[in-house]
Amino acid sequence: MPQEHTANEVAHAAAVRSMFSGIAPRYDLLNHLLSGNIDKRWRRRVKTHLAAILSDPNAIVLDVACGTGDLSIELQLAAKARVVGTDFCRPMLTRARAKADALSIAIPYVEADAMQLSFPDETFDAATIAFGLRNLANFGEGLLELRRILKPGGTLVVLEFSSPSIPGFRSLFNFYFARVLPRIGGLVSGSRGAYEYLPDSVSKFPDQERLAEMIRSAGFDDVGYQDLTGGVAAIHSGTRT
Ligand SMILES: C[S@@+](CC[C@H](N)C(=O)[O-])C[C@H]1O[C@@H](n2cnc3c(N)ncnc32)[C@H](O)[C@@H]1O
Repeated sequence: MPQEHTANEVAHAAAVRSMFSGIAPRYDLLNHLLSGNIDKRWRRRVKTHLAAILSDPNAIVLDVACGTGDLSIELQLAAKARVVGTDFCRPMLTRARAKADALSIAIPYVEADAMQLSFPDETFDAATIAFGLRNLANFGEGLLELRRILKPGGTLVVLEFSSPSIPGFRSLFNFYFARVLPRIGGLVSGSRGAYEYLPDSVSKFPDQERLAEMIRSAGFDDVGYQDLTGGVAAIHSGTRT
């Protein structure tokens, strides 16, 4: 059932889409540069959470807010299940398609808003969202929409920046994220705003426990999480009730 969105939510989505359109050409380079390539390892960890589903030739997996396709490609490599990617930013999807084509991997990439996905109820065996949930105008409604397109018993996996738990490390990470990253990101992408938005959006995103609670409230069981790199990021998972 389509949800009503407030004027603020519509404006937020338009600003996010335009921001990602602007940085799409440099998005991959900056991701790997700014994370020291750790982001690749984090996406591979998502794959281990879905090993059973990915080995099932009858299963279908949706990667939401797929961006330039790194997670969907990682999931589809050697999988028997079918993987579909979706994002609302066309320049990001164009890159995803080119990367999948270059590897001769067939992944349908569908342009759609994560808050109002263009798929029927109960279509997918698993849904992933990597560094996407934080960008949505309403996290709770985004989770409900992910639940809607999952089959009962389907698996949700969320990869997102989180809250480092070790105090000294947290200060160091916050300094890097708030002071160093926007300068490098701004220089390489030409959009300092996008790389100021990144630490800002991470600071407003729920920490591990609160996100787990939100996922439960959205209608998922067996909710758990795993910290990555001392809690810089976390993988949350749950089963659709
Ligand atoms: C930080 S990127 C992450 C891309 C990819 N998942 C990855 O792991 O690199 C965030 C992506 O979320 C997409 N996005 C943000 N809000 C969205 C929405 N409401 N609907 C669909 N995609 C959205 C952006 O277009 C962008 O491609």
